[in-house]
Amino acid sequence: MSSTALQKELQLLISKALSDLPIPESPHTLYEPYTYALNVGGKRIRPFLTLLANGLCGGNIKEALPAALAIEILHNFTLVHDDIMDCAETRRGKPSVFSKWNDHVAILTGDVMFADAFKQLSFYGNSDAYTKQEYAAINNAFIKSTITVCEGQALDMEFVDRETVLLSDYIQMIEGKTSALIVGALQMGAISAHATQEQCDKLAQLGSEMGKAFQIQDDLLDAIADPEKFGKKAGGDIYEGKKTYLTLLALQRANADQKNSILATLDKEKATDVDVQEVLNLYLTLNVIEDIKIEIQNHYYKTYSLLDEFKDSKFKQELKKLLIFLQNRDH
Ligand code: IPE
Ligand code: IPE
Ligand code: MG
Ligand code: MG
Ligand code: MG
Repeated sequence: MSSTALQKELQLLISKALSDLPIPESPHTLYEPYTYALNVGGKRIRPFLTLLANGLCGGNIKEALPAALAIEILHNFTLVHDDIMDCAETRRGKPSVFSKWNDHVAILTGDVMFADAFKQLSFYGNSDAYTKQEYAAINNAFIKSTITVCEGQALDMEFVDRETVLLSDYIQMIEGKTSALIVGALQMGAISAHATQEQCDKLAQLGSEMGKAFQIQDDLLDAIADPEKFGKKAGGDIYEGKKTYLTLLALQRANADQKNSILATLDKEKATDVDVQEVLNLYLTLNVIEDIKIEIQNHYYKTYSLLDEFKDSKFKQELKKLLIFLQNRDH
């Protein structure tokens, strides 16, 4: 992404606020993995969205920073625990927390990250600039995102053992595990700008569409991206037996033999590289890859049209640029 001055300024604010977090050194089995999880990279999309939503609603950007930190720490916490659930040894091209340390360390690291994320919101309770209602609203947005992510993660895991999963079930699952944090990021940014309920609701709709585009694309990249760039194991979802948009569409289109072959690989305790390659080949044969690209574009188009309802500003332009970058991403 060729970066604009505004993007540079906001990303700098985010990285400085993250590096200024007072993370203690000891106990080191808690705070070393915390620091590692937070600083090992990441696109920082969610805190960027929080700042942009604040700008979009005419706020003071600096006042969105605690909410931006809260959402990025929360996101990283979900990844630390998600990697345990998904047996994913690589994250952002580096060992995931549980594989570098162990499950116990990763569970506790996630717990402290969650509490630390929540702690950031006390800023809004202590500031005279925010009413009691606004403080409650920002807390509620954070809590709702967290609960909805947990619900989405539960469905994601339930679907592994469920033979019949409808596309509508899948959409409900990703609205939970992925859209919820994007919605929360935008809403918290809006509330930090004293936005109206109407603005918050519009941003929630936008975040929901954006989150769906983002997760379906993540499913696609899991299958076809260069793992060096993507930073996660190629075909990881197939090894783990996940019901992704790709698997569901492939199962819909497969003949009996192809269906049995896909389900057998998804069900295997330890699928081989050859098994996984066969499923990937079927995605191509069944034209799943091309059709999913269209589905992703459709969700992005809906997101752009929701963004168009906001009045023009440099923040709106920046959000549009972010969407274009994400639409074309390879990682
Ligand atoms: C990963 O999110 C989790 C998903 C919702 C697919 P990101 O792709 O935003 O992760 P980082 O923070 O940039 O690594
Ligand atoms: C993303 O699910 C949602 C959460 C992490 C909460 P994935 O399991 O697809 O995310 P990645 O691919 O591991 O980043
Ligand atoms: Mg997962
Ligand atoms: Mg995962
Ligand atoms: Mg994924």
